Amino acid sequence: MNNRELLDSAFAAMKKSYSPYSGYTVGAALLSASGRVYTGCNIENAAFGPTNCAERTAFFKAVSEGERSFIKIAVVGGKGGSVTGLFMPCGVCRQVMAEFCLPDFQIICASSENEYEVFTLAQLLPGSFSPETISE
Ligand code: THU
Repeated sequence: MNNRELLDSAFAAMKKSYSPYSGYTVGAALLSASGRVYTGCNIENAAFGPTNCAERTAFFKAVSEGERSFIKIAVVGGKGGSVTGLFMPCGVCRQVMAEFCLPDFQIICASSENEYEVFTLAQLLPGSFSPETISE
């Protein structure tokens, strides 16, 4: 599964976004070590707090299906249904990634329909509080 294919899955998931309050549509596609792809979109709520990001939707779908090991995730998003600039995962989603992913886990962020940047989890969440932190 190359980055372009994973981004295409994320773009398809973005179309499912339920975001009547912010107008930001976000999609994610997560590749597990088993080779399966789990997609997710952001799901907003009138009470605001229960809103779930696209990345966490993908992670929670995957983990609830028994997956525990992941290779990379593609993230796309923007205002009004299109990518309006580089879309980076929020801090809460980075923390969820740190629960299940190694520091070299790749995060592929679209900056337009055809362009993207690749980061590692170590770059986006240095010095993380992770399962290892509380295992001693
Ligand atoms: N959102 C995501 O889906 N992922 C992120 O990493 C950041 C934010 C969503 C949540 C909300 O529905 C909208 O984008 C605006 O914050």
